[in-house]
Amino acid sequence: MADLTGKVAIITGAARGQGAAEARLFAERGAKVVLTDLLETEGTATAKGIGDAARFVRHDVSSAEDWAAVVETARREFGGVDVLVNNAGILWTKPLLEETAEGLDKILKVNLFGTFHGIQAVAPIMRAAGGGSIVNISSLAGLQGIPGHAAYGSSKWAIRGLTKTAALELGEYGIRVNSVHPGAVNTPMIGNRFTSGAGNFPSVPLRRVGESEDIGDLVVFLASDESSWITGSEFVIDGGSMAGIVPPVQG
Ligand SMILES: NC(=O)c1ccc[n+]([C@@H]2O[C@H](COP(=O)([O-])OP(=O)(O)OC[C@H]3O[C@@H](n4cnc5c(N)ncnc54)[C@H](O)[C@@H]3O)[C@@H](O)[C@H]2O)c1
Repeated sequence: MADLTGKVAIITGAARGQGAAEARLFAERGAKVVLTDLLETEGTATAKGIGDAARFVRHDVSSAEDWAAVVETARREFGGVDVLVNNAGILWTKPLLEETAEGLDKILKVNLFGTFHGIQAVAPIMRAAGGGSIVNISSLAGLQGIPGHAAYGSSKWAIRGLTKTAALELGEYGIRVNSVHPGAVNTPMIGNRFTSGAGNFPSVPLRRVGESEDIGDLVVFLASDESSWITGSEFVIDGGSMAGIVPPVQG
C-alpha cells in the first residue's frame, strides 16, 4: 500500500465527495492534509472527523488571493506542500445551443482557472523543496465528447492539456503532474443518484458505479513515491466504460 508518511497535501473541494474521501485516505496513509472548499460547515466537520492531521480552509479555487492563504496555511501548520490535488469542480449539463458565454465562463473559472491557480501557487514551494506531485481531476468528459457537456467538457479537456504543459515545464524540478479521468462516481455532484453495489449499473463493464474511495486509492498512488517515474499521464478510472460498449442483454 502506498505510504504518504511525512507528506503534506492540499486537497481542494474536500468538504464532501471524492475530495473528502481522498483527505481521509491520505491521513490514514500518514499524510497531513489541508482540506479546502467553499462549504465551511461541511469542510470543518470533515476535517474534524480526520483529527489532528487535518486543517480546513475556506477557499474559492478561482481566486488567486485565496490560494496564497491556503499555501501559507500548509506551510505554517505542517511545514510545506508536497502534494496538490486539484479536485474542486462544478458540473451542469445543457445543450450546446442553450449554453451561454456566462455559463462557460463560470465553469472555466472554477474547473480550469482553479487548477491553473493551484499549480502556480504550489510550484514555487515544491521546486524549493526539490519536488512534489500534482494530481488534476478531469473526467471521462475530458477524453471524449458527451452531449450536454459543452461547458463542463471544455473545462475538463483543458485540464488535460494544462496537465501536459505543466508536466513538461515542471519535470526538471522534480514536480510530477498527472490527470485522473473518473467515470460516474456516486457523489453529491451527480445527486448520489446511483445505487451502489455490484450489478446495479449494466452499462459499465464492471457493473457498478464508482465510489469516492475508488478514485481516492488511485490519487494516493499518484501522490506517493511509488509513482515517482510517472508524469504527464492520464489515468482512466471508470469500471471499464472507455473500453467500449457493453451490448444489451439479449432476451
Ligand atoms: N461525480 C462524478 O461522477 C465525477 C465524474 C468525473 C469527474 N468528477 C470530478 O471529480 C471532482 C470531485 O467531484 P465530486 O464528484 O466529489 O463532486 P462534489 O460536488 O461532491 O464535490 C466537489 C466539491 O468542490 C467544491 N467546490 C465547488 N466550487 C468550488 C470553488 N470555487 N472553490 C472551492 N471548492 C469548490 C464543492 O463545494 C464540493 O464540495 C470534480 O472535479 C468533478 O468534476 C466527478
